[in-house]
Amino acid sequence: MYYSVFYMFFNYFIKFAIPEDLAGKVALITGASSGIGEYLAYEYAKRGARLALVARRKEQLEAVAGRARELGSPEVIVISADVSKVDDCKRFVDETIHHFGTLNHLVNNAGVCYIQEDQRCSLDYVSLMDINFWGSVYATQFAVPYLRNNKGKIVVISSCAGWFATPKLGIYCASKAALIRYFETLRVEFGSNIGITIVTPGVVKSEITSDKWLLQANLYWAPMVSTEDCVKTVLNSIRRGDEYLTVPRWMGIFFMKTRNHVCQTKVILNDVMVFCFVRGLKKK
Ligand SMILES: NC(=O)c1ccc[n+]([C@@H]2O[C@H](COP(=O)([O-])OP(=O)(O)OC[C@H]3O[C@@H](n4cnc5c(N)ncnc54)[C@H](OP(=O)(O)O)[C@@H]3O)[C@@H](O)[C@H]2O)c1
Repeated sequence: MYYSVFYMFFNYFIKFAIPEDLAGKVALITGASSGIGEYLAYEYAKRGARLALVARRKEQLEAVAGRARELGSPEVIVISADVSKVDDCKRFVDETIHHFGTLNHLVNNAGVCYIQEDQRCSLDYVSLMDINFWGSVYATQFAVPYLRNNKGKIVVISSCAGWFATPKLGIYCASKAALIRYFETLRVEFGSNIGITIVTPGVVKSEITSDKWLLQANLYWAPMVSTEDCVKTVLNSIRRGDEYLTVPRWMGIFFMKTRNHVCQTKVILNDVMVFCFVRGLKKK
């Protein structure tokens, strides 16, 4: 008992005192052509990490790669791929290993978010699940053997919408909740062999959160975090090896965290969402 309490505090102290040095490490980031993925690439670059950047738009990726080199990354490759296609995921992991010979971090960030005006199902929602959920599962499946070799890390960009109900975003919420539970399960299976950081951002400035989108989703009232602030917090958390991170941090008060599970004050939050959503509708 005394030993495990001491071990817990010791671990906690070490995490804060000695964050991971990223110089020379290889990070593969999906969805790196814009938003959170793009700015995460810059944060990794500033710390001297080598990068494999993945997304569908190659021109944007090339521009991000150029900036990442300027910021200090010694080596950057770009790979145009669609994470919803299993063969593409195999290819970008293979190309990364072929080029760098190793992999330290896999950042599962690529994602889309569509507003659902009604409960009808369309093919868009099926593809949303393919991208947001299966895209991360496929990439992880191919990366795990390499990550296991060097006690690597997996980063999952889920969403606060994965913790609580967000009206008009039902399928998106489901895709992000599925990510949380899937990677919590892998965390138990991997033990200390591979670290997993599950990130649940609130509303962050990006291509997704346009003014039109915020209005349609009735989320214009929600405080918006800048992409730069968000990724700085995320990278610090990754380097410390945190299991969970909510950005902005104050939103974490809604999820009381213990080491291995999260008790959610879901009821309160759902009430807050209903209140804001209904008020938003009345204003329209
Ligand atoms: N912004 C927020 O408020 C917020 C909040 C919570 C969670 N998130 C999550 O954060 C992640 C990043 O989103 P963001 O906000 O930074 O939005 P974003 O600027 O639209 O970035 C999304 C990225 O995902 C890529 N992507 C989309 N579909 C893809 C596919 N099929 N294959 C490969 N790449 C694909 C996009 O690149 P291409 O189009 O070039 O493929 C882009 O680089 C998403 O998972 C999102 O759900 C965002």
